[in-house]
Amino acid sequence: MSGPDDVSGTPPRVVVVEDRRSMREMLTKTLTLEGFEVVAAATVADGRAKLAGGADAVVADLRLPDGTGLDILDAACALSPAPPVVLMTAYGSVDVAVEAMRRGATDFLCKPFDTVALVERLRALTRGNDGGGSDDGVVAVSTAMREVVARARQAAMSEVPVLLTGESGTGKEVVARLIHAASPRAAAPFVAVNCAALPAHLVESELFGHVRGAFTGAERDRVGLIREAAGGTLFLDELTEMATELQSKLLRVLQEGQVTPVGSSRSVAVDVRYVAATNRDLEAAIAAGELREDLFYRLAVVVLRLPPLRERPEDILPLAGRFLAQAGEARPAPELTEAARQALLTYPWRGNVRELKNCIERATLFHHGETIDAADLDLAPVAPFPVASSSETARSSETAPATTLAEAGQRAARETERRLILETLHRQRWNKRAAARALGVSYKTLFNKLRDLDIPKQPPRQVT
Ligand SMILES: Nc1ncnc2c1ncn2[C@@H]1O[C@H](COP(=O)(O)OP(=O)(O)OP(=O)(O)O)[C@@H](O)[C@H]1O
Ligand SMILES: [Mg+2]
Repeated sequence: MSGPDDVSGTPPRVVVVEDRRSMREMLTKTLTLEGFEVVAAATVADGRAKLAGGADAVVADLRLPDGTGLDILDAACALSPAPPVVLMTAYGSVDVAVEAMRRGATDFLCKPFDTVALVERLRALTRGNDGGGSDDGVVAVSTAMREVVARARQAAMSEVPVLLTGESGTGKEVVARLIHAASPRAAAPFVAVNCAALPAHLVESELFGHVRGAFTGAERDRVGLIREAAGGTLFLDELTEMATELQSKLLRVLQEGQVTPVGSSRSVAVDVRYVAATNRDLEAAIAAGELREDLFYRLAVVVLRLPPLRERPEDILPLAGRFLAQAGEARPAPELTEAARQALLTYPWRGNVRELKNCIERATLFHHGETIDAADLDLAPVAPFPVASSSETARSSETAPATTLAEAGQRAARETERRLILETLHRQRWNKRAAARALGVSYKTLFNKLRDLDIPKQPPRQVT
C-alpha cells in the first residue's frame, strides 16, 4: 500500500479546484512539498476534465465561477472508485455543509484553515490508495449507495465499530473491505470470519485462540483470528449465526480490549477494529434472541444499511458494465443491446448484486455474436409470489399461511443440507473434490449446491 510516506509507490494524485490564484498556488506548492501529485483547476469545467484523468482525493472550493463545489463533488462521485472530496468555503454555513456531506463529501473546511490539518487529512484519506487495491471497484452511482460509501469512508477514519445490514448479495463484504482499506489500518491485516461457515464447536477457539492441551487435538497454541487481525480489522460476517454465549464472550473482548484463549487463564491485550455484518433484520434477530442486545449496542455505533439492488436501479447498468469488463479480461468486453439493458433494469434481482454478477458472467460465456442480447441473459421469468411447490402454485394467493408453512419446511430442509455440506467441507479442509466424494455427489452437483445454498466457496477464514 502506498502513501505519501512510502517512497516506493506512486504519489497520491490530488485534484485541487480553486478559482483564487493565490490560494490555488499555495495549495499546489504545499501539497507538492508534502509528497502529493497535484493537478490544479480554476473552474468546474476544468476540474471535471482533470478528474477524468483520475484522482485519489479532491479538494474543491465551494464558490467557483461557473458553478459550485457540489458540481465537482457530483463529478467525483460518478468516478469509480469515487475519490474522497474535501470542500472549502469562506462562506461556511451549516446548511451547505450538511447538504455537501449528504451528497457524499468527506469533509468540509472553513477558510481560513490550517494547511497542516488539510495535509494530515489528505494523507489519511489517500493512504492505501495504490490504484489497484482490493478497495477499488465499489460501484456507487445511486444516491443511496453514494451515501453508504461516503458514510463508510467517514467511519473508516475513526476506530468505531460498524454494523452492516442488507439482503444477501448487496455488497456488505465489499463495504467492509472498503472501510478497512480507507482506514489508517489499511496496511495491517483484514481478517474475514464467516460465523455461519464455522461449525459451532470450533468458533470459540478459532476466534479467541487456544493453548496447547486445551482440548483433544489442540496440539499447539493458536492465537485465534481476533489476534491475527491485530492492528487491522476483523470482519464478523453473519454475526447472528454465532451462538449467544459466544456473543457475550465477544462483547467482553470488545469492552475490555483483551482476549482470553481457550484453556488459558491469562488474557492478552488486542487492538482490533470491528466490522460486523448480517443479512437478518436486526430487530427480528434481537427479538428472536439470535443477536444479543448488548452486543448489538456495542457494535452498532455506525449502522450502514446496504439497499437491495431493486431500490437503486441507477447502479444496475454501471455494475453490469463493471462485471462485463472484468469477465472479458483480455478481450474487448461485449456490449449489451438495448433490449438487454431494459431486461436488466426491470428484473427484480432478488439475489442482488451477486445475482447480477453471475448473470453477466454466464452471459459473457454463452452469448452469440458480438453483443449480449436479452435472451443471452437467461433471466428467469419473475414469479408473482413465492413458489413453494407445484401444488402450492395452483392455489391462489389467499392461502398465504399454507405457503408459509411449506416455505418453513423448505427452509428447514435447506438449513440441514447446508449444515451437512459445511461440516463436510470443513472436515475435508475445503478440498471440494474430497467433500463431493464424502457426500457421494459429483463435483458439479456440489458446486451447484454451494451456489444454491449460498455457501462460500472459500474457507470461512481468510487473511488478506
Ligand atoms: N457496489 C458494488 N460494486 C462492485 N461490486 C459489487 C458491489 N456490491 C457487490 N458487489 C459484488 O457482488 C458480489 C456480492 O457482494 P458481497 O459478497 O459483498 O455481498 P454480501 O452483502 O456480503 O452478501 P451475503 O450476505 O450473501 O454475504 C461480490 O462479488 C461483490 O464483489
Ligand atoms: Mg457476505
